Amino acid sequence: MVLRVRDLRTYFFTYDGVVKALDGVSFDVRKGEVLGLVGETGCGKSVTALSALRLIADPPGRIMSGSIRFRGANLLFGLEREARFRPVKKSNRVTVKRKFRLISRAQERMSAVRGRGISMIFQEPTSAMNPIFSIADQLSEALLLHRGPEIVEEVLQARPDDPAVGPAMEALLAVAREADRAQLRAAAERFGEAAHLTSLGTQAFYILRDPLMDLDTKRAELAKALRRVHLNALQRRYLSSELHRIRLLVELRNVFLREMTEEKVDPGPLRAIRARRLSLRLSVLPFALWGIRGHVRKPLKEETFWRTVRLLEGVSIANPVQVARGYPHELSGGMIQRVMIAMALSSDPSLLLADEPTTALDVTIQAQILDLMRDLKTRIGTAILLITHDLGVIAEVSDRVCVMYAGNVVEVAPVRDLYRRPLHPYTQGLLNSIPRMDDPTKTLESIPGSVPNLIYPPSGCRFHPRCPHAMPVCKESRPPMTTEGEGHTVACYLYHGPLAPA
Ligand SMILES: Nc1ncnc2c1ncn2[C@@H]1O[C@H](COP(=O)(O)OP(=O)(O)O)[C@@H](O)[C@H]1O
Ligand code: SF4
Ligand SMILES: [Mg+2]
Repeated sequence: MVLRVRDLRTYFFTYDGVVKALDGVSFDVRKGEVLGLVGETGCGKSVTALSALRLIADPPGRIMSGSIRFRGANLLFGLEREARFRPVKKSNRVTVKRKFRLISRAQERMSAVRGRGISMIFQEPTSAMNPIFSIADQLSEALLLHRGPEIVEEVLQARPDDPAVGPAMEALLAVAREADRAQLRAAAERFGEAAHLTSLGTQAFYILRDPLMDLDTKRAELAKALRRVHLNALQRRYLSSELHRIRLLVELRNVFLREMTEEKVDPGPLRAIRARRLSLRLSVLPFALWGIRGHVRKPLKEETFWRTVRLLEGVSIANPVQVARGYPHELSGGMIQRVMIAMALSSDPSLLLADEPTTALDVTIQAQILDLMRDLKTRIGTAILLITHDLGVIAEVSDRVCVMYAGNVVEVAPVRDLYRRPLHPYTQGLLNSIPRMDDPTKTLESIPGSVPNLIYPPSGCRFHPRCPHAMPVCKESRPPMTTEGEGHTVACYLYHGPLAPA
């Protein structure tokens, strides 16, 4: 189990009253699966994802109760002590007295969890990118933050003067003319291996593929690339002492943060302060690495650049070098979404939260992004929580589906089972409103009414004002979640209660 959410309640304290955005949400995301989270707009899907990362804007929002466990770590540890609530007389409002010292400690703990592998991608990828930095710069920062020591180490290990490099380079130039893509890649990789630096192989591949260069220019470019990663003894000593310092810092912070995410120990203020200091020092790591003096910086820059090219290749971008050199405004929405996915994957997350990743895109691009997600699932094994209002998207990639309505989970089922045998009237309504390949003659119906205002949610089953099968009991109490088949659960009195068929 990667993520385990139980009875989660998230409220927003607004001037009009308390918005009960999530009211007892429970679900699991298992290792390596894609869980689709579906429901109309305003059902609480985004709030669910943001709660899981504790990114709810506080104020006005606040997780009230429940439990969220990410790979065993309790993300809501000490929640009940963080705030006090007092109703305002003769109004719907509640005043919240927050203890910001405890809240900031919880934020520290969350930074550990984010480091241990939850990433998120958003619906509007453009707004998540900085327009004045190149794609490579932005990806490099993420890479250095997550992989700083590893990158410095690679640069240190490079041996561009290895005797095997010369022959490998000649072999590469020899195949350059007639080799196909795969052969060229293999030869380039052998060249990189000879110099003990994989990113050099990537770079060589793109130099050799450049149609505008003749063979002599290519040879000169390869030689230049080798010179750029060449470190003299002094530089080597300097960089290895830096590496030692950074490693120590990372190690120390990890120890602190690991202890802080464990449930039993209260981290205590002193420990929290030390962890925060270390985190702060590490968060400037990308800048510190860029700041490393003189031309020791150049090999680092080269290494991260070619690593970002590799990342972009990994999300099926056809011309990664040009894209890496470009700026966000030069790319289409689908491209930027790919870049965002690459960035989210740079930390090797075990869980990826994707909030409507395809909603802002054209249909054909949507299909490509979905292909990419499916590919990531099989290739990397990242668990994905895929949020969308579109059941068609869910059908394409999910293993299981969780249907939400007005802040409640109403049905959970394996994807095939849900489409064949939707049990909850809301799920049935959603399915009737999308075209089906297996029955094209079917007329599409929309669900009457709309998602209720969650300051005054309907009593009992929150769906009852819109439900064609509503019974008296539905208005009185909330239906419990019952199991109606292998991994198929539903919250509805049609299946459980006084009137349910035996
Ligand atoms: N910052 C906020 N202040 C007040 N209410 C909010 C805020 N954010 C979300 N909500 C409420 O929470 C509910 C769920 O929202 P959301 O999770 O964004 O829906 P979805 O992603 O399913 O479309 C909505 O009723 C919305 O009005
Ligand atoms: S519990 Fe009642 S109102 Fe709710 S979905 Fe089932 S039948 Fe409809
Ligand atoms: Mg949303």
